[in-house]
Amino acid sequence: MNEKEQIVKSLKKVFLKNKINLKDEKIENLIEIPPSQEMGDFAFPCFVLAKFMKKNPKDIAIQIRGDIDNKGFEDIQTSGAYINFFVNRKKFAWQLVKQILDEKESFGKPELESEKVMVEFSQPNTHKAFHVGHIRGTSLGESISRILEFAGNKVIRANYSGDTGMHIAKWIWCYKKYHSKQKLKKDESWIASIYVDAVKRLAKNEKLQEQVEEINRKIENKSDKKINELWKKTRSLSIESWKKIYEQLNTFFDVHYFESEVEQKGKEIAEELLKNNIAKKSDGAVIMDLQEYKLGVWVLLRKDNTVLYSAKDLALAEKKFIDFPDLQKSLYLIANEQDLHFKQLVKTLELAKLNYADKLQHFSYGMVRLPTGKMSSRTGENILYSYFIDEMMKYAKKEIKKREPKVSKKELEKRALKISIAAIKYSMLKQGASRNIIFNSKDALNFEGDTGPYILYTYARASSILKKAKKKLSENLEIKNLEEKEIELTKKLSQFPEVVLDAYKNYNPSMIANYSYQLAQIFNEFYHSCPVINSDNESFRLSLLEAFRYVLKNSLNLLGIDTIEKM
Ligand code: ARG
Repeated sequence: MNEKEQIVKSLKKVFLKNKINLKDEKIENLIEIPPSQEMGDFAFPCFVLAKFMKKNPKDIAIQIRGDIDNKGFEDIQTSGAYINFFVNRKKFAWQLVKQILDEKESFGKPELESEKVMVEFSQPNTHKAFHVGHIRGTSLGESISRILEFAGNKVIRANYSGDTGMHIAKWIWCYKKYHSKQKLKKDESWIASIYVDAVKRLAKNEKLQEQVEEINRKIENKSDKKINELWKKTRSLSIESWKKIYEQLNTFFDVHYFESEVEQKGKEIAEELLKNNIAKKSDGAVIMDLQEYKLGVWVLLRKDNTVLYSAKDLALAEKKFIDFPDLQKSLYLIANEQDLHFKQLVKTLELAKLNYADKLQHFSYGMVRLPTGKMSSRTGENILYSYFIDEMMKYAKKEIKKREPKVSKKELEKRALKISIAAIKYSMLKQGASRNIIFNSKDALNFEGDTGPYILYTYARASSILKKAKKKLSENLEIKNLEEKEIELTKKLSQFPEVVLDAYKNYNPSMIANYSYQLAQIFNEFYHSCPVINSDNESFRLSLLEAFRYVLKNSLNLLGIDTIEKM
């Protein structure tokens, strides 16, 4: 039994005596770590007991304290409404470090039931930019998938790309009309530039839109062989160009859906809804009138019978459950500009009495803006992944060379990539997902402060001390004397399992990101005030260092960030 469980057990005994019925888990969740060590190692706030005992919390604290058996504690005191427990710190530190070194990669793993969950994320469109917003979605999706897996779930990573529809028609139209002399390239920035040009030309002359619509129909009914070939070719170039991106971001999908595969089925579903009077005709279009639910009007098919994004999503929702019949949850990570769209989707599925409607869940996240303003793949005012990563790499390389001028070229590339990815992912994940963020590359790449590189750096520092010590970790964790920073570090390490559980329950990677930063900070404080090698406490401190490495590594791993041994 660890110290916390001991406290829960002691409190529970006293509570039962007073006819207070609180679950162990609830008691455990209420236990806090006091802000300073003079106030004990753990504290129980008595506010919740007021409704049972009908007294003020301060008196309750005194009464409960009087009933607790002191055995196993160094001391128990009250302070206002709090009961403060002082544990045997050496024993606590020793037990914890030993536990971490035993459990290694599984330290902090919540023991929960497992579900089969599909996580749809990233979703770039062919013929368009893979931009900073996609990086945020991809970082969030990978992290949430890892957190779900760590908690015992089976995750299916799904991607869904728009490879048909009006934006493709614009691209094909523009390429055929103005750029056909240029060779087709597997280069996302070139592909994106054609789209941007299309939007510009169409804005100047609205009449051209008719030509685009003509092409859209041809793509959809595959009537024009040349256009169909061009579509196929350019579509696969886009898809090819993402391979490198996903490799660098270390994200791999189990299944990749495309709008073109659900287009036909989407049309059929829309027609079926119309037949059953769930959808209706309006001005020749097929719509879902959801105004009575305050969800406006959702258009499924255009006047010319072409399919919209909406109808395709109806077919996709169904397809996911056909492909994976035992799916228990279908999670969609989509930016908050589509909040309404998702509600319309779920409402329509409900009205159609499709029983999986309640398994769909939207994880909505905020937009990424750049210091210069909003991003849009329509105007080209965005940062493409390729440009972005190049900028980051340049800076990272400069920093590495400052520290290690003789680093080999291969090593330089490898390390710079890890640092850049850590910088990007961390800055995307440290803020709550619902917030819009302004991405500033300089801030993200800073080797100090609340950044990915700082945390990686801290990890590498711990590794290098261990390497220098050249000693095997000893089994005997004799602790001579615990210093304040050592205690703080052990306490922070002990919180990891709770942090993981909270992050899991709330689908919230930012909790893990913030924890990683705090842990790194405390480690650095410890490192500055407690010498490790040749100190009296050397053997314990080395083990503490190793425990720290495991926990930080586990924590970063849940964010989808790889550690490195050297910066
Ligand atoms: N590709 C879409 C877009 O760029 C996002 C797809 C979101 N997923 C979905 N099932 N609708 O807006």
